[in-house]
Amino acid sequence: MRSAIEEVVETIWENSLLKSNFIKVFCENGYIPGHSSLCLIMSWLLTRKNFNGEPGIFRKFAFSSIFHDIVLEDDSSACLLTLKEIEESSLSASEKKYIVQHPLNSVEKLEPWDIIDSDTIRIIKEHHELPAGNGFPKQLPDSSSHKLSSSFQFVLNLSHLVYFSKGEVSDLTNNLESSFNLEKYKNFLEVFKRV
Ligand SMILES: [Fe+2]
Ligand SMILES: [Fe+2]
Repeated sequence: MRSAIEEVVETIWENSLLKSNFIKVFCENGYIPGHSSLCLIMSWLLTRKNFNGEPGIFRKFAFSSIFHDIVLEDDSSACLLTLKEIEESSLSASEKKYIVQHPLNSVEKLEPWDIIDSDTIRIIKEHHELPAGNGFPKQLPDSSSHKLSSSFQFVLNLSHLVYFSKGEVSDLTNNLESSFNLEKYKNFLEVFKRV
């Protein structure tokens, strides 16, 4: 059954005018709400392409999209995606340590809420890890991460690129191929080629 959310998300994303206005509306409020909203919409597109539109999978990605940075208040630190960027930032040593640890702190805050399942907790804990094992905080390779984590990591990195380019990313694949196996996301990336 074609769900209402599928219709809304596809209508927005597959129409360039609607897409650019969607990005504008959400990104005008800063990085945290902007990239989280983009993650949410891309989570649906990825669920549809790679997970047969399975609602239970989308639920995990959706909660992760909304809450993964729940303990961060500052846009300029939330947008640091690599250890190198954190190291080269002007943050103090304790602030850098906090940014590196924030996936674990987000989980600590969310666990008592008891509405998010254990898969989602793992995805949030691993949202800044990378398949090659050069993410943070634990440098976990794909083989040691939750089976859904690399998909969310991909969505998060893509949302980051789209946020900063305001949707005008000419070659998304060049920016992502050093960290991800793009073959796995081929169908998903087709969506971007149509707009
Ligand atoms: Fe984030
Ligand atoms: Fe984060």
